[in-house]
Amino acid sequence: MRIAVARETDAHEPRVAATPETVKKFKALGAEVAVTRGAGIASGIPDSEYEAAGATVGDNVTKDADLVLKVRRPAPAELVDYKKGALIVAIMDPYGQDAALKAMADAGLAAFAMELMPRITRAQSMDVLSSQANLAGYRAIVDGAAEYGRALPMMMTAAGTVPAAKVFIMGVGVAGLQAIATARRLGAVVTATDVRPATKEQVESLGAKFLAVEDEEFKNAQTAGGYAKEMSKEYQAKQAALTAEHIKKQDIVITTALIPGRPAPRLITKEMVKSMRPGSVIVDLAVERGGNVEGAQAGSVVVVDGVKIVGHLNVPGRLAASSSALYAKNLLNFIETMIDKKEKKLAVNWDDELIKATLLTRDGAVVHPNFQPKTAA
Ligand code: NAI
Repeated sequence: MRIAVARETDAHEPRVAATPETVKKFKALGAEVAVTRGAGIASGIPDSEYEAAGATVGDNVTKDADLVLKVRRPAPAELVDYKKGALIVAIMDPYGQDAALKAMADAGLAAFAMELMPRITRAQSMDVLSSQANLAGYRAIVDGAAEYGRALPMMMTAAGTVPAAKVFIMGVGVAGLQAIATARRLGAVVTATDVRPATKEQVESLGAKFLAVEDEEFKNAQTAGGYAKEMSKEYQAKQAALTAEHIKKQDIVITTALIPGRPAPRLITKEMVKSMRPGSVIVDLAVERGGNVEGAQAGSVVVVDGVKIVGHLNVPGRLAASSSALYAKNLLNFIETMIDKKEKKLAVNWDDELIKATLLTRDGAVVHPNFQPKTAA
């Protein structure tokens, strides 16, 4: 059983799919592990640490690997270096990527998308959306605080009092909850909103105040899977009116609102940005999915009417050492389910619900029901 840890080819991806800790665990499970030279550098892991953990380090490690670990989906040009029949596990970003999925199928790979892991108790330790969103939520506050020209906690000093900053979190999933907790630790006065009623109690338990249009639609806004539904135009208008009043008085706003498989909902308009005090900061964590904030630019910090709008890409990558460590553990926990521990070899149970939910391609075809190529009518 040969496992390869491939170096990311995307220049904007500093994370790595294994750490010395997970390499040791794979070795204990009977695997030989090979890591591409320099794969961990941007996450603060030199090649020597992988070697000390028992991995070999080389330049073309995927060629004879039975299983390849990556952060991002391999680009078509990389696929020539993969063995036919190999398993490849990564964050595949599969939506609207038919050609890329077909390329992996054509290369004969069994490709698994970690972000499709079901959110069930058994798979909690494999949930990359949670492990990465949690760190992104933390980092959003750190980035917001760094752009803000004032202190967050109230300070009473001989020279005068600095008031506590007002922080508003829009979207209280995994990232939003961590943003609330982090802002509270820094001493801010925190309010938060979401369309899922279950979040009200979570917000209050973290010591923040909940703000939302709590009508009939709101009471039914959560899907069975625990995700938000796309809200009606009427609800969005009521929500916008409430937000508009509140946002004027906020110093830092963090937006994290997402709806699976849909563009991010627009929560902050140009007019709302304009209503904020100069020097205020908005951090749009949804910027890669179309953005919650009008005027946000993916990959930049822009100033609009004196308000800074932060639109960093790959926010988990901004704390690559932490996000790699958690991502690598998510992968280890998933891969362990594919290994026969007695025989010390790969033994995938293709009927396992975790495998079925995440498997995109196998034996030359795209097999996932949600990503079937459109057949000609
Ligand atoms: P997400 O990243 O899909 O969305 C972020 C947040 O935006 C969600 O809370 C959503 O309700 C909110 N949102 C969407 N539209 C909005 C709007 N118009 N206005 C305001 N907010 C809006 O969500 P995430 O972080 O992936 O979590 C989704 C759910 O999954 C949560 O209930 C979470 O607790 C649950 N979960 C369950 C796990 C498990 O059981 N293993 C693990 C992790 C999360």
